[in-house]
Amino acid sequence: MKLAVFASGSGSNFQAIADAVQEGRVQAEIALLVCDKPGAYAEKRAKALGIPVFSFLPKEYSGKVAFEKEIVNRLQQEEIDIIILAGYMRLIGSTLLHAYDKRIFNIHPSLLPAFPGKDAIGQAWQAGVKVTGVTIHMVDEGMDTGPIISQEAISVKATDSLESLTKAIQAVEHRLYPDTIQCLIEKRTSEGSQNQNEHQTSIN
Ligand code: GAR
Repeated sequence: MKLAVFASGSGSNFQAIADAVQEGRVQAEIALLVCDKPGAYAEKRAKALGIPVFSFLPKEYSGKVAFEKEIVNRLQQEEIDIIILAGYMRLIGSTLLHAYDKRIFNIHPSLLPAFPGKDAIGQAWQAGVKVTGVTIHMVDEGMDTGPIISQEAISVKATDSLESLTKAIQAVEHRLYPDTIQCLIEKRTSEGSQNQNEHQTSIN
């Protein structure tokens, strides 16, 4: 199974998935990092890991359709099966959604549907919630919408600061995303072999 990870920033989730791949906890290959912020720290991580990077500046294209067409070409060249959004701070457009229907996943640092969009941890902190968490979902055309695949709740303690809450959320993200990706891979692999068996039965 070949993965492409999309990131715009620090890439700590990308690193956690890459570590899980190296340790055999995720049975896949990260064949490409796609980055819409040339120079982002995620790129440095990819280079250190020997993972190819496709980096682009959106404003150099006529629009989303144009840069997503180029992304799809790169993904197809690398024979990517699944797209993993890891802090890719951009809405996915119809070009990518059609090419990778039900094969694009995202992580978000809140219990969706609460606090979608940017700075979800800050939004939750400002709202004074006592419980927040992490969500992994299938991507559709909305902002942090789409069917939920896994969630983990985190209690906000009286002693917490925004910084300590952020650390607690990141620790959960770095465990939950690799674990969920491995579950998705196992599901796809078993569905694939089931389809093959059905095909075998129908031609026998
Ligand atoms: C992560 O907390 C991720 O959940 C969030 O961006 C951060 C990226 O961190 N994504 C969103 O807010 C998506 N709406 P990272 O670059 O260190 O992985």
